[in-house]
Amino acid sequence: MGRLAIWAGCIGVAGLALATPAPLTAEPYSWPIPAWMPPPPVPADNPMTTQKVDLGRHLFYDARLSADGTVACVSCHVQDRAFTDGREVPVGINGTFGIRNAPGLANAGYVPMLTWANPHMTSLEFQALMPLFGDNPDEMGNNGQEAALFARLAADPYYATAFPDAFPDRPAPDLFTVTRALAAFQRSLISVDSPYDRFKYWGDKDALSDAAKRGEQLFFDHRFECYHCHSGIHFTENLQTSRSAFAETGFHNTGLYNIDGAGAYPANNTGLMELTGDPADMGKFRTPSLRNVALTAPYFHDGSAATLDEVLDHYRQGGRSIATGPHAGHGATSPLRDGMIVGNSATKAEIADIIAFLESLTDTGFLTNPAYADPWPADHPAVADRVLP
Ligand code: HEC
Ligand code: HEC
Repeated sequence: MGRLAIWAGCIGVAGLALATPAPLTAEPYSWPIPAWMPPPPVPADNPMTTQKVDLGRHLFYDARLSADGTVACVSCHVQDRAFTDGREVPVGINGTFGIRNAPGLANAGYVPMLTWANPHMTSLEFQALMPLFGDNPDEMGNNGQEAALFARLAADPYYATAFPDAFPDRPAPDLFTVTRALAAFQRSLISVDSPYDRFKYWGDKDALSDAAKRGEQLFFDHRFECYHCHSGIHFTENLQTSRSAFAETGFHNTGLYNIDGAGAYPANNTGLMELTGDPADMGKFRTPSLRNVALTAPYFHDGSAATLDEVLDHYRQGGRSIATGPHAGHGATSPLRDGMIVGNSATKAEIADIIAFLESLTDTGFLTNPAYADPWPADHPAVADRVLP
């Protein structure tokens, strides 16, 4: 983390903005969003242009971003899974296992605090340093090999023109340009066209099944409390738009685990407390968005629930009571459990309706949008050795 903080200074996040005026030739980016949806906030030193977004897309899919040419961002963030990987925890370079489930990237630009439990991770520009250079867990293996990474990119004929087109004043691949292009591409990942959106915002009464309509009523009912935490336009209280006066955020202990007899909490599950040091934050994780959630299994910060049924059963029981196995946990009796996770009396039919509602949040256009897809030809060196999940 110390190392990342130093880089944050170098690349000009955290307020030390290096000015990159938009080039005269830059095509202003046009957001693929309806009028009812404000665009995400855009940092003053990283304006959106079509050239930059396209460069970012090439970088996102390019496995030469990893030290051995096998791992690209797409190795853990796949479009047709709403940019998740289908694994409990991801596998990075040299088969290294991560410790947290890979979150989806739909509407990443609206997320004020990125990753599961880090209140300091406030920009996509800064976040990109983690997979690129982080070594705990090692995802792309470039720690200490920065110069080699940028030399590899500079040698590619596409990048030889794409970097100057996107950054006329600073035309080489470096920390500043690579992280900004990746962030611009990720800000372009907008998903607001699910059947539920058509029902709710466009007035298409036939867009939802009767089961999904019943599920919507239950989701927004006090008996279940879902909407208290999964609130607002993206079904999460973590939200910032270009019109927000301030970032809304929310972290909770949903009763997965508990303190053991020795006063310890299971390793890698202490959540927000890791960075705040506050014991009251033990086991708290960020409330995730539920858009496209039917495609992003397995669930929770550690991928410990395989299906939506398991998640709903977790809430029905007011937390976890699993005695043995890799996901053993006794959070249902934890004093740290959030006051809204108290169990409910959902019937099987009600759970099926809530799941039908959650399934209506799947935006198939997002999953197949060519603007977000892999731009490289299959035999290109960028992807020749790339491993996908
Ligand atoms: C080896 C798997 C892996 C690779 C490769 C990877 N990621 Fe991730 N990504 C993750 C995991 C795991 C997390 C959650 C980390 C955490 O919460 O501690 C994550 C989190 C994120 C987030 C935060 C999303 C949110 O809603 O909080 C963004 C943005 C992101 N990754 C972008 C990228 C980009 C850009 C790249 C390529 C430079 C990349 N990732 C490469 C596994 C990966
Ligand atoms: C007290 C706040 C709160 C309430 C109430 C709540 N959730 Fe959650 N939800 C969270 C948090 C926080 C997580 C992530 C927990 C973790 O991974 O440790 C989560 C995770 C989830 C996930 C997994 C998403 C993913 O990407 O892994 C689903 C699905 C979900 N909740 C649905 C619901 C439903 C349906 C309800 C109502 C029955 C509900 N939630 C009630 C806060 C809440």
